[in-house]
Amino acid sequence: QLNDAITIIVFGASGDLAGKKTYPALFNLYSTGVLPKKVHITGYARSDLSREEYVKRITAHLKINSDSDKQKLDEFLKITDYTQGQYDQDESWKTLDKHIEELEQERDLGKGQKNRLFYMALPPSVFLPVATGLSKFVYSSEGRNRIVIEKPFGKDLESSTQLAKDLGELFKEDEIYRIDHYLGKEMVKNIMTLRFANMFLGPMWSAESIDNVQITLKEPFGTEGRGGYFDEYNIIRDVMQNHLLQVFSLVAMEKPTGRDPESIRDAKVDLLRHVKPITLEDSLLGQYVANNDKPGYKDDDTVPEDSICPTFATLVLWIENERWKKVPFILKAGKGLDNAKVEVRIQFKDTPKGSLYEGAVRNELVLRIQPGEAIYFKFNNKRPGLSQQIITTDLDLTYKDRYKDMRVPDAYEGLILDVLRSDHSNFVRDDELDAAWRIFTPLLHKIERDRIEPKPYPYGSRGPKELDAFVKKYGVVRRSDV
Ligand code: BG6
Repeated sequence: QLNDAITIIVFGASGDLAGKKTYPALFNLYSTGVLPKKVHITGYARSDLSREEYVKRITAHLKINSDSDKQKLDEFLKITDYTQGQYDQDESWKTLDKHIEELEQERDLGKGQKNRLFYMALPPSVFLPVATGLSKFVYSSEGRNRIVIEKPFGKDLESSTQLAKDLGELFKEDEIYRIDHYLGKEMVKNIMTLRFANMFLGPMWSAESIDNVQITLKEPFGTEGRGGYFDEYNIIRDVMQNHLLQVFSLVAMEKPTGRDPESIRDAKVDLLRHVKPITLEDSLLGQYVANNDKPGYKDDDTVPEDSICPTFATLVLWIENERWKKVPFILKAGKGLDNAKVEVRIQFKDTPKGSLYEGAVRNELVLRIQPGEAIYFKFNNKRPGLSQQIITTDLDLTYKDRYKDMRVPDAYEGLILDVLRSDHSNFVRDDELDAAWRIFTPLLHKIERDRIEPKPYPYGSRGPKELDAFVKKYGVVRRSDV
């Protein structure tokens, strides 16, 4: 259990993200006894909610299965309340500050204990007004302040730099926690351990042995209901510049000099600075169209009829360093695809021509991030028995079979815990953000300026029909090609 008293203020408390992610994570941290004794959670939003409505929203996604869960929920509700207010009015901020002071008095918090955590489950348009109001009127001068913000952090290098600058005038960098929830996922957190705690992997982890790396995020649903947001951001800004790039960084970075947050983030930034900006030639863009009873992207009323917004992209990244010379990193993401899958697939080189086992199937190491964490390694084995035939099989570490009694917490649980411990390892640093945008911005601008038409693909398919030929150019061998 953590010791430091804290008041957590959840902005956007009546919204979707807070209901689906923030509150369930806080509840789980509370019921597992992790939150400090002197904790209080205040929800804040513009909606005028009664206590009953507030409770309904924040409990809608909680899993309450037993009597003991119910008891925990009753206790949890006692430490939380709701305050209605505006995001751009001094009066609202003063009222909120007064309210928090009262809550601090009730818990008898002295100097140094008046810690405040501002959690922004908010759309980007109100980030700055809220951060401004907080720093002016709600900032605690007798304790530690922390502010958690959710992506999107800008739309390109310029807007992101501006946002970082504006936010930097209001909060210190070590008070800011930029969430990329992929960094809280179990398998993503495991990448460092896998790479650096297993000696045998070290020598294989380079262009010497690896042919290509594929990092994939497939979703079987479209942008239903989010068309307005999505059309402005597209698949590249929505999940690639952030989630997939974070996974990429952990897979490709050099060994950090330490396991502390700054060393890890230094290693990532250093890697990103060696990545060439993506070109249009190294991209394949797609947009889903109606299929049977499933609507096309442009059938959404909030999407312009002539939208060129990619809902699918395959982008190839090249790293200019010794380790990864000529190894393509193929990032692929899409909505309205045939299934749900997030994975890293490392394809090793073919056995050499003229060697004893020329033509053997390539080895692959797969880290499945979701659904169902797993690591498996495809390798060749002699068929048992009186045969010399080769069979390709899997060394399989599927978590649900291997770690039967262990609960894998939701990404947000671990991340909020990190914030409470002031651990920045799994959060995005400002210079990391800059380096990330530098890789994507020229391509994003080109797509928008030249109105590059995405290739159509039917909802529920594997993506545009050009996909297989496209990835083949980069040396990817699909099982069905063998
Ligand atoms: C969000 C994107 O950041 O990540 C969504 O805005 C996407 O479009 C989601 O669906 C994917 O996250 P997860 O955890 O469901 O894989």
